[in-house]
Amino acid sequence: MRTQVAIIGSGPSGLMLGQLLTNAGIDNIILDRVDRDYILGRIRAGVLEQGMVDLMDRTGAGARMHKEGLPHDGFSLSFSGRMTRIDMNKLTGGKRVMVYGQTELTADLMDHRAATGGVTIYNASGVTPHDFDGDSPYVTYEKDGVTHRIDCDLIAGCDGFHGVCRASVQDKGVQNFEKVYPFGWLGLLADVPPVHHELIYANHERGFALCSQRSKERSRYYVQVPLSDEVEGWSDDAFWDELRARLPADVAEKVVTGPSIEKSIAPLRSFVAEPLRFGRLFLVGDAAHIVPPTGAKGLNLAASDVHYLFEGLQEFYSDKKWSGLDVYSERALRRIWKAERFSWSMTMLMHRFPDEGAFGQKVQESELDYLSSSTAAQTAMAENYVGLPY
Ligand code: APR
Ligand code: PHB
Repeated sequence: MRTQVAIIGSGPSGLMLGQLLTNAGIDNIILDRVDRDYILGRIRAGVLEQGMVDLMDRTGAGARMHKEGLPHDGFSLSFSGRMTRIDMNKLTGGKRVMVYGQTELTADLMDHRAATGGVTIYNASGVTPHDFDGDSPYVTYEKDGVTHRIDCDLIAGCDGFHGVCRASVQDKGVQNFEKVYPFGWLGLLADVPPVHHELIYANHERGFALCSQRSKERSRYYVQVPLSDEVEGWSDDAFWDELRARLPADVAEKVVTGPSIEKSIAPLRSFVAEPLRFGRLFLVGDAAHIVPPTGAKGLNLAASDVHYLFEGLQEFYSDKKWSGLDVYSERALRRIWKAERFSWSMTMLMHRFPDEGAFGQKVQESELDYLSSSTAAQTAMAENYVGLPY
């Protein structure tokens, strides 16, 4: 089998890249080690920057996003019993974000790929990139007891944090930058109306909480928990009680509770691999970087990576030039590190760090107090949250 671009990973990165390539007439095959249902079973964040919305439009898979997505002009920070609204739309000259679940976005991309004849090989085991240092890379995988080989021009490693592509370059000079946070997020999804029309990020002495949403009928909530906690130890009632304990009283009393349809604990880390290119292999999205979800940047960084890589691939195939691919890593990393910084700063600002002691708590409270009264500080937060330019 032969293709022009072999894409490893059928998450948002691989699907967005694959669709842009298909639309441009560039042949590509996506391989994933699991199947569509498994991928769609993963609950992920759902705050889209304008750049992500624009990219979905460019793929041609954005119709349902516009129909069902919720435009948001602001979000609120809750601390010391009060709320401060960050008016993103006003502070950024009209920019906003779109609230639309990653699960829905991934399904839209999968459906559009199938409708436009894109080839995706699911349940491909032992996927391995080969000879990407040379001129004739290829990918092998096993399926139904048979080993297959796909010859290609280039390989896109869209296989996430635990994938094979970054693992394949550990002895090729990759540099890993990492920070692991001393807590996790316990998330709960329920078919109950959101407590507020916008998101609420809460800094409370009991710990961080987040009130998010998927639609006007479906809510997504999180509370910070110790890394030692296990989801089995958290009943729905215990979750609802803890969430309400971390919100201002007038908000807590409006929380509509209900049975969880999904409940899980996720660890938080900041991670970047440098560089993102190894010969004819390119790392994209979570394969290259991870952000703590506090700034809702994970999916949005995948979009800017795809944007930069696709520009290079278009030039490679239309003008037979490498210049766009040669600058992919540098271009992507500049935006990646800005989003890493923002996600780290929001995480440090909003979570309880026991080791930081009373002094650290007072510093957080003073920064939040400053944010509540400074247009300059709010503007800086707003322009990072809506997404810095590509
Ligand atoms: N072989 C084949 N496929 C693999 C392998 C492998 N060895 N390892 C991982 N994969 C697949 C996974 O099954 C998954 O479907 O790669 C895909 C990676 O998808 P994501 O982890 O979603 O990463 P990405 O597409 O970059 O999307 C980033 O998704 O994880 C969230 O928070 C993250 O919002 C961000 C976005
Ligand atoms: C979510 O809706 O899952 C979500 C929203 C905003 C975040 C993190 C997660 O910062």
